[in-house]
Amino acid sequence: MKIIIVKDSQQGGKAAFNIFAAALKKGARVFGLATGSTPLTTYQELVNSDLDFAQAISINLDEYVGLKADDPRSYHAYMQKKLFNFKKFKHSFLPQGDAADEQVEIERYNQVLTAHPIDLQLLGIGQNGHIGFNEPGSSFAEKTRKVALTNSTIEANSRFFENAAEVPRFAYSMGIGSILQAKQILLEAFGTNKAVAVAKMIQGPVTTACPASALQEHPNVTVILDQAAAANLK
Ligand code: F6R
Repeated sequence: MKIIIVKDSQQGGKAAFNIFAAALKKGARVFGLATGSTPLTTYQELVNSDLDFAQAISINLDEYVGLKADDPRSYHAYMQKKLFNFKKFKHSFLPQGDAADEQVEIERYNQVLTAHPIDLQLLGIGQNGHIGFNEPGSSFAEKTRKVALTNSTIEANSRFFENAAEVPRFAYSMGIGSILQAKQILLEAFGTNKAVAVAKMIQGPVTTACPASALQEHPNVTVILDQAAAANLK
């Protein structure tokens, strides 16, 4: 793992932008994308740049089960607002939260991933070490599936909803196995509340108790941390 420590999330966004720009220049055409607070500065840098994604494909990690694409709290809406309204991709894939048949939707998404191997996967990390919505205990071999969110994730994500009771209990998520297929992985973590998970991811044992520790087994991972998120590294 290559570790880059920056002052704050603004600098982190710039460092991540440089990695996107270099990948695009080298021919990367399939970008795995994340939502949440962490990638916001990266998306802002992309939006403010002249990088051209018109020939590129994006594939998002996850979506809440039950939310329609036009629900303002959906990850579809987030991506539209933060990136896609400004940067057009040739095609953007996300799991469809309101799909009528869950199994068909899961199969569709796995076929998307097979047809479009990811060149660069952007990730955040949960306070419990999750990547995507792969909560502790998830097998490292899993592909896309429906997952139950843990109470800590529901609590952490309730800031995007009226209250915790409104947060969907399930999500579709690319599995850790799907994530590890990406040729290059870029994980960002900012803030004190990520410090414990970050230390476990980088310096702890490789264990399903910390899903992000699976990244230790991938040959091309860059981690961008601000000083607060790096504070527990030895
Ligand atoms: C989002 C995702 C999650 C988040 C993680 C951190 O698509 O898959 O794993 O990256 O929960 O969330 P933030 O960035 O909001 O702290």
